Amino acid sequence: MRKILLVGGAGYVGSVLAEELLERGFAVKILDRLYYGDDGLREIHDRVELVVSDMRVIDPSVLQDVDAVVNLGGLSNDPTAEYNPKANYEMNTTASVQLAEMCREAGVQRYVFASSCSIYDRGVGNDQSDFVQDETTPVDPRAAYSGSKRAAEKALLEMAGGDFCPVILRKGTIYGFSHRMRYDLVVNTFVKFALSQGYINIHYGGEMWRPLVDVRDVARAYIATLRADAELVNGEIFNVSFHNMRISELALRVREALRDVGVEIEIRSDYGYRGVRSYRVSAQKIQHTLNFRPKMTVEESVRNMVEQIRQHGYDDFENPKYYNIRWMRLLEEAAKVIAITGSVFEAPARQGDS
Ligand SMILES: NC(=O)c1ccc[n+]([C@@H]2O[C@H](COP(=O)([O-])OP(=O)(O)OC[C@H]3O[C@@H](n4cnc5c(N)ncnc54)[C@H](O)[C@@H]3O)[C@@H](O)[C@H]2O)c1
Repeated sequence: MRKILLVGGAGYVGSVLAEELLERGFAVKILDRLYYGDDGLREIHDRVELVVSDMRVIDPSVLQDVDAVVNLGGLSNDPTAEYNPKANYEMNTTASVQLAEMCREAGVQRYVFASSCSIYDRGVGNDQSDFVQDETTPVDPRAAYSGSKRAAEKALLEMAGGDFCPVILRKGTIYGFSHRMRYDLVVNTFVKFALSQGYINIHYGGEMWRPLVDVRDVARAYIATLRADAELVNGEIFNVSFHNMRISELALRVREALRDVGVEIEIRSDYGYRGVRSYRVSAQKIQHTLNFRPKMTVEESVRNMVEQIRQHGYDDFENPKYYNIRWMRLLEEAAKVIAITGSVFEAPARQGDS
């Protein structure tokens, strides 16, 4: 297997996965609408093939020279999915299934879909639903984001067969540095608050559970899935997580890691209800089936993140591009203005000029 198409490959996960694939000798083609720009590709721009396009209108010729597809595109969190549920469903479900059909048609057998452990969310405050869930646990997510991921999963799994090999990776909440940085993921948010404000804040006393995993480990999980024999992965769902942690414990660990790199912080807590998500999962299946085990602890990843931020910048913490929902809202507002003004600073053509 040589050339991998990463749909959404300029994103937080995709740009790290592209680096890891290149390092292992794969060729990488990226199809992305570049909602967040192409910062993620800044170290590898000249080594990847970039197709700027929307995943809802993919030209099948993109698949001509491709051996496998990883689909990381679409809206990637709850707030953006709730902001525009229609676009969310079009991208996360409809386009993801259409792309799989296109792959099957083109003879591209391996199709790995980026799903999410938020499918397992059961909220807080109910001891009956506080248990470790695995890939066989019945799920029925209702939120726009997790619901759209589950709908795609179901359709993709039905396509599994001799001529097509769909695989689902349900990832926990990801942490760690990427050249397309996100500060709207819990560990990264803690680091951003620590470096910019000197404190971190935990909501609801930090009671909620989260499965967590480093972004480089996630990239390794994708590569293990791409390399695996079809009979091990065809039509399978795998959870990808390193630790299940309560947010309160996570905050303590982040504080310790930051101390190692000379950053002293305070932990603050509130108990207001914010509709917090809570779930914990087993990641045994991927370990047993593919011998895949994440390596990067939260502490190591936090120390590395601080080092990378110090080295590369990314310390303009309030820049909206690091927060998917802020950025999408801003793009929409800007699009409305530009629809009227035509451009930002260029003078419009005089009436009558051709
Ligand atoms: N980051 C996490 O913690 C996490 C956890 C579980 C699952 N996931 C899933 O993993 C995938 C990647 O997440 P991420 O953190 O890299 O997100 P991201 O938002 O950084 O990246 C998504 C990429 O997809 C592109 N994209 C979005 N809509 C598109 C469209 N219509 N056409 C073409 N390109 C489009 C964006 O431009 C962006 O580069 C997503 O499917 C997300 O739902 C992420």
